[in-house]
Order: sequence, then C-alpha cells, then structure tokens
Amino acid sequence: MKRATRLPIPVRKAVLGLAPYNAPEEGRAAKLRLDFNENTVGCSPAVLRALSRITAEEMAIYPEYQATTKRLARFFGVRPTEMHLTNGIDDALHLIADTFLNDGDSALVIEPTFDMYRFFAELAGARTAALHYDEEMRFPVDAVIRALRQPARRCPRVLYIANPNNPTGTLVQPDELKRILRAASHTLVLVDEAYFDFSGLTILPWIRRYPNLLVARTFSKSAGLAALRIGVLFGNPDMLAIMRRACTPYPVNTAALVAAEAAVRDPGFLRNYTREVLLSRAILEKGLVRLGARVYPSSANFVLADFGPAAKRLVRALDRKGILVRGRRDFPREGFMRISAGTRADTRKLLSAMEAILR
Ligand SMILES: Cc1ncc(COP(=O)(O)O)c(C=O)c1O
Repeated sequence: MKRATRLPIPVRKAVLGLAPYNAPEEGRAAKLRLDFNENTVGCSPAVLRALSRITAEEMAIYPEYQATTKRLARFFGVRPTEMHLTNGIDDALHLIADTFLNDGDSALVIEPTFDMYRFFAELAGARTAALHYDEEMRFPVDAVIRALRQPARRCPRVLYIANPNNPTGTLVQPDELKRILRAASHTLVLVDEAYFDFSGLTILPWIRRYPNLLVARTFSKSAGLAALRIGVLFGNPDMLAIMRRACTPYPVNTAALVAAEAAVRDPGFLRNYTREVLLSRAILEKGLVRLGARVYPSSANFVLADFGPAAKRLVRALDRKGILVRGRRDFPREGFMRISAGTRADTRKLLSAMEAILR
C-alpha cells in the first residue's frame, strides 16, 4: 500500500483504503478441494462435448448474447428482459456497485458473509455498515429492518443477503425476506442465491413484485463451471436496462455461453449431483458432530463447524494430507471451519483423515 502512494499518478482513495490482495492458494487441482464450495466431480460430460464443437471461426467473433439469454430465460422461467448474463456473481456485484454506489454512500452487509460484497462496495467508494449473525448463527432480521426504516439519507443504498449464506449455511426464510423487502423503500436488495440448488428455496418470482430486488445465480457451484465464470442477475427490466449502461460490452465469453446452455440441457446431471451432495452433507454433519465439533444446520453444499482450539492444527494437518478446508478468521473467536460437501466418497475420505489426526 505504501508503494502505491509513491506512484506518479494518484491512486483513488477507495483503492488505497483496501487491504492488499491475498491471492487464493494455487496448485489445488491435485488435492481434495473442500475449501471453495466447488463441484468436486467436474461439469457434465455434455458440457465438454458442446465446448469441443466450438469452431475456430466462432472463437474469432465477439460473443453474442441474445440466443443464449432466450434459452436460459426459458430454463429459469423468466423473460429475457428480466435477466442479465454476468461473468460470475462477482461481476454482478461489480456492476451493482458501479450502477448504484456513489462515493460516501453506505452499503449494508450481514457478517460473516461473502467477502466480495464489502470488497466491491468499498472499491466504489462506499462505506460498509455491518450487522452480525448471533452466536447461534441467527440472521438479525429486526436490526436489518430498523436499518432500512431510517430516513432516506441515512438508509443503506444496497443491502446484500446471501441466501443460503456463506459461510454459515443458514437460510433467511421467505416471510423474513418479505418483511425486509417491504421495509426497503430506499434500498436496493440483492439476494444472492449462489447455493440455490442445494437449498431449493428461491424468491426469483418476486422480481415482478419488488422493483428494488435483484436475485443472483451462478453456474460455478452445482453445474461445475467455476472456471468459465458465468452467472445471471435477475430483476425488473427497467432496472436491468439502466445497469447495462454501466456494463462492459462483452462480460461473458463464448465458451461460457456454450457451457451454460449445455448445462441446462442436461438437468439429470444437475439433479444427480445435487442429490449426491445432500446425501454427503448429511454424512458430513453427523461425522463432524461425532468428532466433537459444533455444527450449524446447513442449506448449502458446505458445513460450518466449530472445532474450538483444535481447528488450526486440523486445517494444517488436513492440508498436509492433500485435503483443503477453509479455516475462518472472521468470527469473534478462532475455531471455525467451513467444509464443502462433495461426493459421499469425498466426505468419507475427509472424515477418516480427521479422525486419524484427532485420535
Ligand atoms: C454467496 C456467494 N456468492 C457468489 C459467489 C461467487 O460466485 P461466482 O463464481 O459466480 O462469481 C460465491 C462463491 O463462493 C458465494 O459464496
């Protein structure tokens, strides 16, 4: 950060205020990757076949979005004007900040949650206010509503809710979301449904009822396309039309378009993988409790576990055995780990490694 201040060109204050970037660990491919909530078996073979049919000529042409948008709109049950393709949800967050957040505005996050909400809001120059899950990992719905009912100039411009939330795995129920949306007269509400396939709970149809609601989905999780970076932002057509003004012309590449279309044409793959993960998650939750952890009931493809003082050693020892899990430091105290549920075989491998370490 110090070096940046000596640059010949002044750097934006918002950028100088950000913590230095910590690149995620590389060389993960050969390991059992239970640290980033990815699909652990890879995408559908039908996706690979579709990708292999892309021609040299198609590679030379800038991507076009209409046809894919139409087909994906049918899959999601919305009109094409109610969705916008993004380079993953990360890109949607960037676009939201670019469109709605002025220097000095405030954005509201409920922590612990997905770090990128705060990152993109602060990059845009906004201040982030945070409310917190309690010790039982309950969502502070009343405090959120109080924050939304302030006079307009003090209200957050954007409220970010991950549902299910990462890393707690918890769900905000539809009646609570309804109360929040009704209170949010001056606030854009993003409901991030990255893990929808595992929770089965969506408020996507509500984009027709609440003009200040955006819903985000991704192909990075159950569809196994994290490498290609494709997501969808859903909302009121007028709001999306304004947001497109702030958007780069080609945010999603042609390979990602082809892959997403092929993925939705193979719903059997998605169904089977999701079913496998849910069975695996149940084994994981039980196994972690047996090993002495406190586990929070999860609606996603990961589980938050509290191992107390044993956590740090456990994360490191698993890493040495080629198994990656995510130790979390953004809790009031140490001891929390977020562990992805892959297949049942992945979970069994993890649990027996943990057992051997803790014995
Ligand atoms: C809640 C949540 N939203 C979004 C993302 C990122 O999605 P994408 O890969 O589409 O950028 C993640 C990834 O871990 C996440 O946990």
